[in-house]
Amino acid sequence: MTSDADRFDLDQVDRLLTTTKQVRKRMDLERPVPRELLLECIDIAQHAPMGGNLERNRWLVVDDPELKAQIAPLYQQVGRPYLAANAAGEVDEGQQRVLDSATYLVDHIAEVPAMVIALRLDRLPEGASNAEIAGYHGSVAPGVWSFQLAARARGLGSAWTTFHLFHEQEVAEMLGIPETVTQVALLPVGYYKGSGFTPASRRPAGEITYFNRWKETA
Ligand SMILES: Cc1cc2nc3c(=O)[nH]c(=O)nc-3n(C[C@H](O)[C@H](O)[C@H](O)COP(=O)(O)O)c2cc1C
Repeated sequence: MTSDADRFDLDQVDRLLTTTKQVRKRMDLERPVPRELLLECIDIAQHAPMGGNLERNRWLVVDDPELKAQIAPLYQQVGRPYLAANAAGEVDEGQQRVLDSATYLVDHIAEVPAMVIALRLDRLPEGASNAEIAGYHGSVAPGVWSFQLAARARGLGSAWTTFHLFHEQEVAEMLGIPETVTQVALLPVGYYKGSGFTPASRRPAGEITYFNRWKETA
């Protein structure tokens, strides 16, 4: 029997899980985000699973306008051509919305109140196997998503981005991150403006889940 302590308000929990979206256009670029609030989200993120429970992840918050302005052109150098190339192909309405939103963020990346960089204390070995890659990134990604959920529950919006990683070393030098450390994601974070997040349309579980044998659906 489930005890009261293990019972959740499923409406609330499911709404958080299905409506935590990447926030770009609706990010308030004017309102600073208190560091304590980010630390609260990171405290929660630290409860996500990690391989071996080793706590080899770290977080670096960039809220210094000068540093944000230095990172921005590197993010833009990658983001602009990437998004332009995608927009030139065949895109449906939903993809076009994501492209517009991602392009907005590229244009305004220097203005976001905080850039939260998720880090891991070591680097994958050259030629790492799939098992090593899965264990490695699987020890960071759940925490990043928990951070996004905790942020949303506190009125903050964030977006998972990876464009700057193509210039990982330059950003590491700017921020004094040692060569042994890996950057995994950069999340612009700010209060969100407006409301009315709705779940995106996704393929139903019954179509993409197989039981016992590949392609055998329920
Ligand atoms: C690993 C990963 C990398 C991503 N990189 C970027 C990025 O560089 N720039 C960006 O604007 N969005 C990026 N995204 C966000 C996706 O585009 C986003 O999840 C997708 O648009 C779905 O939108 P939703 O989460 O709001 O439903 C990334 C997401 C993931 C998980």
